[in-house]
Amino acid sequence: MPPVDGAPSDASPVVSFEGVDYSHPNGTIALRNVNLQMSSSELVAIMGTNGAGKSTLVRHVNGLLKPTHGKVTVFGEDTKTTTSARLSRRVGIVFQNPSNQLFAQSVTQEIEFGLKNFGFPDEFVKDRVRWALDTFSLGEYSERSPMELSGGEKKRLCIALVLAWDPSILILDEPTVGQDSEQKEKLTEIIRQLIGQKKNVILVTHDVEFVWPLQPRTILMSNASIVADGPAQEVLGQKVAASKSSILLPQLVDFSMISGWPKPYPATPEEAERKVRGA
Ligand SMILES: Nc1ncnc2c1ncn2[C@@H]1O[C@H](COP(=O)(O)OP(=O)(O)O)[C@@H](O)[C@H]1O
Ligand SMILES: [Mg+2]
Repeated sequence: MPPVDGAPSDASPVVSFEGVDYSHPNGTIALRNVNLQMSSSELVAIMGTNGAGKSTLVRHVNGLLKPTHGKVTVFGEDTKTTTSARLSRRVGIVFQNPSNQLFAQSVTQEIEFGLKNFGFPDEFVKDRVRWALDTFSLGEYSERSPMELSGGEKKRLCIALVLAWDPSILILDEPTVGQDSEQKEKLTEIIRQLIGQKKNVILVTHDVEFVWPLQPRTILMSNASIVADGPAQEVLGQKVAASKSSILLPQLVDFSMISGWPKPYPATPEEAERKVRGA
């Protein structure tokens, strides 16, 4: 992919929230004093109860929402002063609700739209569309209207069309909703690849079983605030997390606790099996 201008050095934060409050126009307080820094190639999972403010938080990263108080910077640029076009080339967001994202006549046109909009050459657009259709098993639907797809297929299309333009930061808001285990595994694989390519991935999800094997930095939100922020082993590896939010502990954490194992707890069933066998 063509390089993005002004990519940061590894040391400077890619995303920074300083004392961010946000109130919706109707007065609902959705973020309260949020402080957060994300560095390069970080995978961050944002978890918490419905209505905690997760979607509101990630919409600040691509500048769709601007703080009521405080400051959000992305690649060192204040989202209040940078243009949303500039931000969206670097920050791709897959919305929780696909109908906020899809509008074109066909699946192919949907994927083409962003790429053409960013001015990529025709040949390149064609290659990326093919890649997106293949990677997300959407080839057979290429000429169909996105509105005819199932909920899970729509979600997959949204992920495909955003990844097609290769943003530096990928935000996935509830990406596993409606996905079967094969699609979830594919998504896990893609997230791992993106992190390997030094991208940032922000994952908003309730799906603790999807998150645990990825072992991300985990942020828990409750009532418009961040209530925990740390490695998955710390935040999801203790019962207090469950009491701070409505998150269930991952099954492997439960099993490890019952077994009296010390941390780090196994991230995958295969690791647990090796532990059981004493290997
Ligand atoms: N467009 C909106 N107008 C008014 N209130 C909203 C809007 N979107 C979300 N909210 C409210 O803001 C709070 C946070 O919502 P949201 O960020 O969507 O939470 P989450 O993604 O964690 O479920 C909730 O109380 C929600 O009802
Ligand atoms: Mg949400």
